[in-house]
Amino acid sequence: MKKMILLLTVCAFAAGSSAMAADGAELYAKNCAKCHADDGTGKTKMGEKLGCKDYSKEAVEVDKGAKAVKEGLKDTGGKTLMKAYGETLSDEEIKAAVEHMKSFKK
Ligand code: HEC
Repeated sequence: MKKMILLLTVCAFAAGSSAMAADGAELYAKNCAKCHADDGTGKTKMGEKLGCKDYSKEAVEVDKGAKAVKEGLKDTGGKTLMKAYGETLSDEEIKAAVEHMKSFKK
């Protein structure tokens, strides 16, 4: 019986924590890595074409970055560089993904 309770507690904890905190690494891998690359260097086909910066060298500014992700980013000619994620991701998820990018800076 004791084992059973322990197991239930562990499961409830695992489920609760994943639903509460947005997983930045997972969100990043799913939505962002195709341009910014798994390691944030921007060395992907799309990233090089669009001119992604190397975020292993330059730290992301979380507030400014999160705003750009939410509202989208255009170049000076009005061409979309990064689409607006405000409708597909919550503020919390965007922030988690950008926070994850910060960890690329060595
Ligand atoms: C279609 C390609 C593409 C995708 C997908 C993409 N980005 Fe970007 N992103 C860019 C480009 C291009 C820039 C502008 C150059 C740069 O800052 O690297 C940029 C800029 C940024 C910046 C810097 C903005 C600033 O003004 O400081 C952040 C932070 C960022 N992206 C985060 C993300 C996150 C988080 C995701 C996933 C939710 C994502 N990007 C998905 C192409 C993309």
